[in-house]
Amino acid sequence: MSSWKWLPSFIFLVCLINLVSIVKSQFPTQIFFFYECQNNGNYTSNSPYKTNLDNLLSSVSTNINTNNGFYNKSIGENSDRVNLIALCRADLQPSQCRDYVKNATAEILKRCPNQKQAILWHEFCMVRYSNEAIFGTLANSPMKPAYSVENVTNTDVFYRELDVLLNSLHDHAAFNSLPKKFAAATRGVNDPKYPKIYAFEQCTPDITSVECGECLTKSAQQIRECCNGARGVRILRPSCYLRFETDPFYNETMVESPKRSMPPPAAQPAPQRDGRSSGSTYPHWNLGLFLFSLFNFIA
Ligand SMILES: *[C@@H]1O[C@H](CO)[C@@H](O)[C@H](O)[C@H]1NC(C)=O
Ligand SMILES: *[C@@H]1O[C@H](CO)[C@@H](O)[C@H](O)[C@H]1NC(C)=O
Ligand SMILES: *[C@@H]1O[C@H](CO)[C@@H](O)[C@H](O)[C@H]1NC(C)=O
Ligand SMILES: *[C@@H]1O[C@H](CO)[C@@H](O)[C@H](O)[C@H]1NC(C)=O
Ligand SMILES: *[C@@H]1O[C@H](CO)[C@@H](O)[C@H](O)[C@H]1NC(C)=O
Repeated sequence: MSSWKWLPSFIFLVCLINLVSIVKSQFPTQIFFFYECQNNGNYTSNSPYKTNLDNLLSSVSTNINTNNGFYNKSIGENSDRVNLIALCRADLQPSQCRDYVKNATAEILKRCPNQKQAILWHEFCMVRYSNEAIFGTLANSPMKPAYSVENVTNTDVFYRELDVLLNSLHDHAAFNSLPKKFAAATRGVNDPKYPKIYAFEQCTPDITSVECGECLTKSAQQIRECCNGARGVRILRPSCYLRFETDPFYNETMVESPKRSMPPPAAQPAPQRDGRSSGSTYPHWNLGLFLFSLFNFIA
């Protein structure tokens, strides 16, 4: 009998390994939240503000626009007026958008239970509300950076190619004629460990192209300040989203590539054949991000 004691642990381990590989084959990340409850006044649980907020939040998932993944609505008068904006990441299917935004609207109330103004960046969407008008206004702050704990091999080499990629995405995201203000693309880089960069930029569609460009430029400049050398970075702002990774993280079949307008990348490294570095490094990014979230949560 006692020799079978390890069996539950073994089964658990096998299940865990399977679960990890299933998750990895879809979107290779866990769901992370970053949020900020802003100090712009509090409401009480039986106030009209709370009623309006609840009504607004419960309307997001069913009414979010499937064309641009965006939602804006205001309810109430004067000091009871609540304004809300929600945006899904541009590579999601409409059903994914609805599901994730539902999760985010529930989560933001849990994280910020009595603040009149709050923002939450979910892995796949953003939700924000305020007692002040927010629709159609560029908002660069609050800003939250998040980064991988692993660094690229040579920051100068890698970040030079990153700049080229982000520059081309910047124009495409801000000035394209799509309903969504976004762009995503990959670029090869001469790094023996991390030969490819995946990058994604998106703005809320309620700001102008020039404002979108400004927001993304600020975010690109932030990368070296917060996270120099990291192999994955997110810069989160209310009006724009910037992220890059050395592993795929968005749905490539859902994005139109602006590759053609870019100069060719520097010489490619020889493909790796030993497979040692392939794919096994996600937990480090997840861990770093997790610690970062945890730290924010505790702080
Ligand atoms: C990516 O998009 C394609 C095409 O729209 C879709 O068929 C596929 O299920 C999506 N993949 C994920 C992981 O959502
Ligand atoms: C709102 O409540 C939070 C705690 O939930 C508190 O830290 C903050 O000072 C309050 N703000 C105002 C303006 O009363
Ligand atoms: C949102 O989704 C995450 C991950 O699936 C889950 O852990 C969390 O409980 C959900 N939040 C709410 C409020 O349902
Ligand atoms: C990554 O680079 C940063 C900044 O240059 C440095 O502080 C950090 O220790 C590096 N991390 C690792 C794991 O080498
Ligand atoms: C904002 O909401 C209004 C009212 O529902 C809607 O007509 C408008 O199209 C929305 N704006 C955007 C950019 O989606």
